[in-house]
Amino acid sequence: MNYSIIGSGNVGTALARLFARKKINVAIANSRGPKTLASLTKELGPSVVPKSVQDAYEAALIFLAVPFPAHKDVAKQFKTWKGKIVVDVTNALDVAPKELGGRLSSEIVSKAFVGSRLVKAFNHLPAAQLGTNPSRKGKRQVVFVSSNDADASATVAKVATRLGFAPIELGRLDQGGVPLHALDGKPGGLLFQNVEKLIGGKS
Ligand SMILES: NC(=O)c1ccc[n+]([C@@H]2O[C@H](COP(=O)([O-])OP(=O)(O)OC[C@H]3O[C@@H](n4cnc5c(N)ncnc54)[C@H](OP(=O)(O)O)[C@@H]3O)[C@@H](O)[C@H]2O)c1
Repeated sequence: MNYSIIGSGNVGTALARLFARKKINVAIANSRGPKTLASLTKELGPSVVPKSVQDAYEAALIFLAVPFPAHKDVAKQFKTWKGKIVVDVTNALDVAPKELGGRLSSEIVSKAFVGSRLVKAFNHLPAAQLGTNPSRKGKRQVVFVSSNDADASATVAKVATRLGFAPIELGRLDQGGVPLHALDGKPGGLLFQNVEKLIGGKS
């Protein structure tokens, strides 16, 4: 499976750092074009490949790491996202609740990315924490995963494991996934919770 990240700011860079640490190839794109990503590749090494959004679209699993309002601009560039898993890393914390119209932000993103299988994940950690090594002595950083598509959720959980995390699958977006969202303008109960799993019962 090939991977890409759309967005190269705090979160996109943290995700790229995770892939680089494991030497897993990932494409990364932003709004200004691949030339603006030269210093990032220089820092992180050849597994992080700068691309245009058009080329990043070719990946089967795409991390969406742009400000929530920008999701529409990314989504509308392509008629269909069929066959792709879109990992929604956005948080709609700066969005007025009335703009969401009572819906979860990931449900809005899912609708915009026509045909995609949307998974909410990697959004609960501050970027600085997300970029650190998730495998520590006797512990793994937990990453929460939620989707209405159980296969897509399992795929993203496997990727999280490869990157060194302990994934916890929460089930559907409107059930276990609710606390991963901004709710009435405030962080849901799992947002910004730094949870670690003990490995082998030792700390
Ligand atoms: N910061 C955190 O600690 C944190 C934690 C969890 C989740 N989040 C969520 O993650 C998302 C990104 O946050 P961030 O802090 O990384 O933001 P950021 O530093 O402002 O970076 C945003 C990135 O999105 C890119 N972008 C914007 N519109 C685009 C478009 N139409 N096409 C392609 N790329 C586009 C920007 O491209 P350019 O570089 O070319 O401008 C930039 O690289 C937000 O939804 C945020 O709520 C943030």
